[in-house]
Amino acid sequence: MASIGISLRPGDARDAGVVEQVMAAAFDPQWGEAWTRSQLLGVMALPGIKLLIAEAGEEPAGFALTRSVLDEAELLLLGVTPEHRRARIGSLLVEAVVADCAAHGVETLHLEVRSNNPAILFYSAHGFAKCGERRNYYKGADGRHYDARTYRRSIATRAIG
Ligand SMILES: CC(C)(COP(=O)(O)OP(=O)(O)OC[C@H]1O[C@@H](n2cnc3c(N)ncnc32)[C@H](O)[C@@H]1OP(=O)(O)O)[C@@H](O)C(=O)NCCC(=O)NCCS
Repeated sequence: MASIGISLRPGDARDAGVVEQVMAAAFDPQWGEAWTRSQLLGVMALPGIKLLIAEAGEEPAGFALTRSVLDEAELLLLGVTPEHRRARIGSLLVEAVVADCAAHGVETLHLEVRSNNPAILFYSAHGFAKCGERRNYYKGADGRHYDARTYRRSIATRAIG
């Protein structure tokens, strides 16, 4: 699918409802990974936070939430609504995050993902390499524990001058 009609825009705390809407559709409740409104607003008040929203026409289709501190950044949340998946919206969001990191001197982008999340294939396709594991970090609705994996990718920072 082509990404015709998809646009990206920066967001802020006023978009918390939009993010909640996408999270509710994108994150399987089995894993309890969607943040609450107060978690979201708490994190969005921190320095270095950036929210990027993808819209299909007027409709929210995805978002990426990133936090950067000096030359490191973490992709905290990424989600695309099921009806808009495999249309490169996730890729557009990650590419925009990477471009923004490069423009602001971030050298490494980190993330953490549940070890059985198919998003791992997506992240691998985007140049992220596994760098660590947190045993039994997630607890599913089935009561079982699942490992978390940490990934990172280098950012080619833009040359100055
Ligand atoms: C992961 C996610 C953001 C990907 O978004 P997307 O818009 O569907 O991704 P793209 O269309 O840009 O995918 C690009 C490539 O990544 C890979 N990919 C994406 N989703 C995949 C999946 N579920 N299984 C295997 N490979 C996948 C494919 O190689 C794909 O290319 P292709 O469609 O030509 O085969 C989306 O599936 C999602 O929101 N998942 C639920 C929330 C989540 O787990 N977020 C990450 C942890 S916070």
